[in-house]
Amino acid sequence: MKDRRAVQDSSSMTNFIDELMSKMSLKEKLGQLNLLTSNVPIDQNRADEIRKGNVGGLLGGLIDCSFGINGPAQLRTIQEIAVHESRLGIPLLLAYDVIHGHQTVFPIPLGLSCSWDMDHIETAARIAAREASASGINWVFSPMVDIGRDPRWGRIAEGSGEDPHLGSQIARAMIRGLQGKDLSSPDSVMACVKHFAGYGAAEGGRDYNNADMSSSRFQDIYLPPFLAAIDAGTGSAMMSFSALNGVPSHADRERLEQVLSGVLKVSDFNGIPEMIAHGIGDEEGQIDEADPLQTMSERALRAGVQMDMMGYGFVTRLEKALAAGRISQQQIDSACRAVLKAKYKLGLFAAPFARFDEKKAVHSILAPDYRHTAREIAGDSCVLLKNENALLPLPKSGITVAVVGPLADDKKNVLGPWSFQGDSRTAVSVLEGIRNVAEVKMIYAKGSNIVEDRRMVELLNFAGPKVDIDPREPDEMIAEAIRAANASDVVIAVLGEAAEMSGESASRLDIGIPDNQRTLLKALGKTGKPIVLVTMNGRPLTLPWEKDHIPAILVSWFGGMEAGNAIADILFGERNPSGKLSATWPSHVGQVPLSYYHANTGRPGNPKEDPGKYTTRCYLDGSSDPLFPFGFGLSYTSFAYGPVEADKTVLTGDDDVLTVSITVTNTGGRDGTEVVQMYVTDPVASVVRPVRMLKGFQKIRLRAGEKKTVSFSITTRDIEFCDSRLLPVWEAGKFVIGIGTNSNELNTAEVVWNK
Ligand code: NOJ
Repeated sequence: MKDRRAVQDSSSMTNFIDELMSKMSLKEKLGQLNLLTSNVPIDQNRADEIRKGNVGGLLGGLIDCSFGINGPAQLRTIQEIAVHESRLGIPLLLAYDVIHGHQTVFPIPLGLSCSWDMDHIETAARIAAREASASGINWVFSPMVDIGRDPRWGRIAEGSGEDPHLGSQIARAMIRGLQGKDLSSPDSVMACVKHFAGYGAAEGGRDYNNADMSSSRFQDIYLPPFLAAIDAGTGSAMMSFSALNGVPSHADRERLEQVLSGVLKVSDFNGIPEMIAHGIGDEEGQIDEADPLQTMSERALRAGVQMDMMGYGFVTRLEKALAAGRISQQQIDSACRAVLKAKYKLGLFAAPFARFDEKKAVHSILAPDYRHTAREIAGDSCVLLKNENALLPLPKSGITVAVVGPLADDKKNVLGPWSFQGDSRTAVSVLEGIRNVAEVKMIYAKGSNIVEDRRMVELLNFAGPKVDIDPREPDEMIAEAIRAANASDVVIAVLGEAAEMSGESASRLDIGIPDNQRTLLKALGKTGKPIVLVTMNGRPLTLPWEKDHIPAILVSWFGGMEAGNAIADILFGERNPSGKLSATWPSHVGQVPLSYYHANTGRPGNPKEDPGKYTTRCYLDGSSDPLFPFGFGLSYTSFAYGPVEADKTVLTGDDDVLTVSITVTNTGGRDGTEVVQMYVTDPVASVVRPVRMLKGFQKIRLRAGEKKTVSFSITTRDIEFCDSRLLPVWEAGKFVIGIGTNSNELNTAEVVWNK
């Protein structure tokens, strides 16, 4: 029955689109492929283009655009132009970068991924979809699923870290949350998985840079989250600005066909014209010197790109290309059909104004329970890296606390990059959070600027002022902070990055906390007062000095609008931290790219010994060990892991299933939550394999003293990899299953899997 309905739906969609396309002129078809920015209220030129049928969709401009801020009324006027004033009345796709919440701002994606909590992530995405759709938006450029293993790259903040398995689970949760159960429902939005592909492997961590990698690395590590998003039903995918193995993504016909068929494929912003600077021509290496955009637009369409974001080439150049026979009518029709299908599935033809309900907007935007959820999720995204002598949690009353640092009283940077709809006035600073949660006496001192470098400040403030430079001399600010520390029992130092030090075009050479902040921290250290370091950051940071000298370190990422409350909840014991790192923290920037999931080498060196010379672990001038491994994160309680029990030691064939179990006991005095992680190692294979790979995880809640047995099923899908012919295979032999609290502390069992 269900199937029949699906067939009926898809055949009525096909009929509808066939009929519509039979009425469309070539110009109108090309118009559907044209995606432009717009501000609200719309200017006359854009309105005229829409009237003429030259626009298929609009995206909210990042800086001036008010998509969503004023409620749906003004955006509705744009849709009205398309529906009532264009010849065929085709509604517009209205897109926006909804990356970690819309008006209710959640932690940045890298932070969210550290919750390892798929319910949280789906909920955050659902709330974002409700708010965005209540503002009239029907398409969001999310999730970003690029694997990030180089924290110099600022866009690591927008993804879910380094691991393909965790990244794939998160990709699914995001699609479920954004698209809901029914894409046509007025509170759903179409997702756009991005950036296809290999963008996270940008050489040198420099944004927009290219990547070169073996096909097996691509298939085993970088591709899985895209496949997961497609399997979960993402409506669209965005190309990356970069080239992979010499082919710009916008021209990568083979990969687009192989992976993204059936998904609406959109260029990144100006990505098609930017192929000119890549220095490529058509498939024969030729270019129209007089009009290079002509060549690029044709090549992108032939490669399978179906919507052109701000490149203006599809709408202006493809008519000529068709006349010259360099593209076919079928290629234009298939792109146009993909756009119309997306609109149909969103329900835009049936109810073009369903997402413009003022009454709904009142209830759906910044609803009070959204804030409550944002606080919980922000708390569960924090990662406790160190807690010597159980300094944390702090007593909720009866002490004096010095709250120090340029981010302690901040309401703008806590929202993180890509939070253009967040209103910093409604965000909660750490100072306010502490006031809300505890009854301690507080002495505040700014202590330092976020950075002293004025050029950097200018770059960081490109989208409005978030970073200022205090007119006082650095020494004066430090002296004030020291006075505050000396008059207190404990210091909470809130340090780290400004929001725009991560995200797009925010690569860094040095990934520590800025020097002037470290100078402040060292001065505070000399007071002898116990220090809790709370970091705000969009990437793994190098904090070797801090790890050696500061007794407690809590990573809060950019926690979103409830960051201050969520951090205070943890500092004062209202919430027990449970976040785990989703990307390795290097001890030195010279180690990157760095991942727990690295390949075996011929000279690995014994990890328990000084590596000496002639091993892969040897740097002459320091350690190659990470500062904190993937999966690491502490709790206020402790967990003991029993032995790994396998239900079989010998397995046979494709369909056999291995069940491994472990008993975890909460051995501390508090209730707590643990992320139990399961890794697989294939010690002997026909090609070099990684030292271990995450293949499962479960987040469990244990009361003090309670124990639970956790089980994982392993199938041959989990031991599959891409062989030298790029075919997925699994090979018979021994496998090591490791289960534990992070990628570096595992109890193991061995099994043999025969063909
Ligand atoms: C460029 C970014 O790479 C992409 O992620 C974003 O969605 C578009 N701009 C639109 O803002």
